[in-house]
Amino acid sequence: MLAESHTDEKVFYGAYKWLRENRPVGLAKLDGFDPVWLISKHADIMEVEKQPELFTSGVENPILNDQASDAFIRSINNGTVRAIDMVTYMDPPEHTKMRGVTAQWFMPRNLRTFEERIRGLARAAVDKLLESDGRVDIVQDFALRFPLHVIMTLLGVPESDEPRMLKLTQELFGANDPEQQRDDVKLEPDVAARMWMAAVGDFYAYFSGLSDHRRANPADDLLSVIANAKVDGEYLSESLCNGYYLAIATAGHDTTSSTISGAMRAFAEFPEELKRVREDLSLIPSLVDEAIRWVAPVKHFMRAASRDTTLHGQEIKSGDRLMLCYPSGNRDEDVFDSPDVFDVTRKPNRHISFGYGPHMCLGQHVAKLEMRILFEELIPRLKSVDLTGDPKLSQANFVGGLTRLPVQFTKA
Ligand code: HEM
Repeated sequence: MLAESHTDEKVFYGAYKWLRENRPVGLAKLDGFDPVWLISKHADIMEVEKQPELFTSGVENPILNDQASDAFIRSINNGTVRAIDMVTYMDPPEHTKMRGVTAQWFMPRNLRTFEERIRGLARAAVDKLLESDGRVDIVQDFALRFPLHVIMTLLGVPESDEPRMLKLTQELFGANDPEQQRDDVKLEPDVAARMWMAAVGDFYAYFSGLSDHRRANPADDLLSVIANAKVDGEYLSESLCNGYYLAIATAGHDTTSSTISGAMRAFAEFPEELKRVREDLSLIPSLVDEAIRWVAPVKHFMRAASRDTTLHGQEIKSGDRLMLCYPSGNRDEDVFDSPDVFDVTRKPNRHISFGYGPHMCLGQHVAKLEMRILFEELIPRLKSVDLTGDPKLSQANFVGGLTRLPVQFTKA
């Protein structure tokens, strides 16, 4: 899963293609891991996701860990793998109630009220990029900060605390990447879980007391929405509040920044596509969809079967685990014409990067809004992008993307 060669996209997109053609529901057995069914077809991913009672998120870990890491998590969580009280680990009816706490807030109608604030942040990010001589690392010098600013502004975390949030998120999602590993975690077989739990502990320490504060002093931010919400007539427990804050603080920026860097790389590799958008700025929303399809920054979520069933003609036993391979669904020839081409006019674009069904990405409209605004600010001022070195990908099997993208761009 984490061998060096797997950082090469050609290798894993080739492997996904082989799976779609030869083992659309294929059992993978790797030393140290539970056996997992790899679900590589777009239609099968949807089939699994729309049946949350049959394919559960809360019984086994909804993220693939090695067995040593899951054993460690169970050992410190009363035998369950629910390390964090967050929506991704929940099934209905609990999931439905908890999602309801923020569902309206995340709708486009509410988000419109933040549009001007987001545009201000986008303009500042673009101005800063364009002050340079054009020779930059897009990831470090551009893509990483803007989504972080946006989500922390929406949440209500002060700007001075953003570097801490960024570091903790990178540790959480980079638990398998040697470049992200913490000094206080010894290299043991369950290192990923120890990294993960250490970062979660630091997040909780940061959020401690915030809910009480927001109940006493509600503000126009998402922390206040969650802290003041009542489910079945009660405020959420501290653990549920912290799990919610953590879900949004982490899910909300690495995903989006990976997509922005991936789009910039696509401009270098498909220069005609940048030209088409420059000539017709109304293509920007469609560019955003295509970038999200192309990058698929969330590499998988897991489900576990609650009873014996069949999927795509394959018998699945109760307790079996299934890996939803979103990047593969996005290159499925049955759904997309020329799936390996980056096409800013692709229509329809039924990508599955946000998942599907009841767990479908809660923040999808935030992600699309902030990217649309960023590209509206950037593209009229950007003429071309050329790579000046090899792009580097993170070693991650859950959320990941470019960690370096050296380029030379020219201004319009
Ligand atoms: C391009 C950016 C993003 C991508 C590709 C993405 C992708 C995903 C995926 C694949 C899921 C799981 C869906 C499923 O199980 O069916 C998910 C869930 C979630 N996402 Fe996103 N996401 C992005 C941005 C965001 C942002 C900006 C936020 C917050 C503002 C966010 C918050 C969440 C939350 C809270 C969940 C859990 C939902 C649940 O379990 O009910 N995401 N996302």
